[in-house]
Amino acid sequence: THQWRGIIEEYRDRLPVTDATPVVTLREGGTPLVPAQVLSERTGCEVHLKVEGANPTGSFKDRGMTMAITRAKEEGAQAVICASTGNTSASAAAYAVRAGMVCAVLVPQGKIALGKMGQALVHGAKILQVDGNFDDCLTLARGLSDNYPVALVNSVNPVRIEGQKTAAFEIVDMLGDAPDIHVLPVGNAGNITAYWKGYTEYARDAVATRTPRMWGFQASGSAPIVRGEIVKDPATIATAIRIGNPASWNYALAARDESGGFIDEVTDRQILSAYRLLAAQEGVFVEPASAASVAGLLKAAEEGKVDPGQKIVCTVTGNGLKDPDWAVAGAPQPVTVPVDAAAAAEKLGLA
Ligand code: F0G
Repeated sequence: THQWRGIIEEYRDRLPVTDATPVVTLREGGTPLVPAQVLSERTGCEVHLKVEGANPTGSFKDRGMTMAITRAKEEGAQAVICASTGNTSASAAAYAVRAGMVCAVLVPQGKIALGKMGQALVHGAKILQVDGNFDDCLTLARGLSDNYPVALVNSVNPVRIEGQKTAAFEIVDMLGDAPDIHVLPVGNAGNITAYWKGYTEYARDAVATRTPRMWGFQASGSAPIVRGEIVKDPATIATAIRIGNPASWNYALAARDESGGFIDEVTDRQILSAYRLLAAQEGVFVEPASAASVAGLLKAAEEGKVDPGQKIVCTVTGNGLKDPDWAVAGAPQPVTVPVDAAAAAEKLGLA
């Protein structure tokens, strides 16, 4: 019997590896494409969720990290470094363990979700909390990798994009063609760049007959691409996309313009509302940043930008367990009962 082999083995002919490359994998990718019934009804479209929280470390970052750590290993690196809002560091830490490498991570102090910090810690990464935001962390990580023997595994490393483009391949392989529209949260803008690369490669090679329009959504307090200028002090409850100066800014603009799409913003309130809808009505628990794609789709639908009958894929990028504070906040406290069926039945409204 077979299990999914990980993105490098499944898409080897489309990735920069050779037979001699020492593949470092946790069998990432092969994630569920889940039909979204409530979102389909609301939009009059066929909406699917690409559930990237089902990856080994709970986010889409594993697709890029299997490539980045594999190539770092091939090149003889003994240590890797990344800046992160949490998920990249969790992924880098896990894959570095598999490769027998040291992993250093730079995170913005007090602004990463507890689950992600726990992952980096339990995998033994060396963590520095930086007195600054993600953009400062990335500047520092670049400087360190330029001047010290440590390989940078952020998405400014082009092999990360190569790994992440496989999500677009999986979607086309499942649907039989590209969707009409693909919706993504946008932070550092690596992922929108990667999906666009994947879709255009499949179209070029006639595996797909078309490419989708790319719709990206930033959080309102962290929306430099929408504003057209760097945001010095980015703010949002969606800490994963709290980024004011995206590294792949120009690639995101290219994906937007070449695909005939757009990049817009959603408020924290819209993000949390989509977050709750996904959990309570679709059965899919994602982290807040991931809900920005769905919040954006709903916003676009309200604005009359979504023609009915289209095939739409929303990527939900990370698992809800990474940042459970938002699930617990504002929810009613569970009631306590004695070991007594009648009492329990009464509290459950069954009696
Ligand atoms: N969703 C989640 C859950 C993320 O962790 C990120 C980025 C994004 C969306 C945005 O993707 O940066 O490619 O546009 N997280 C990075 C990190 C910055 O450090 O984990 P992007």
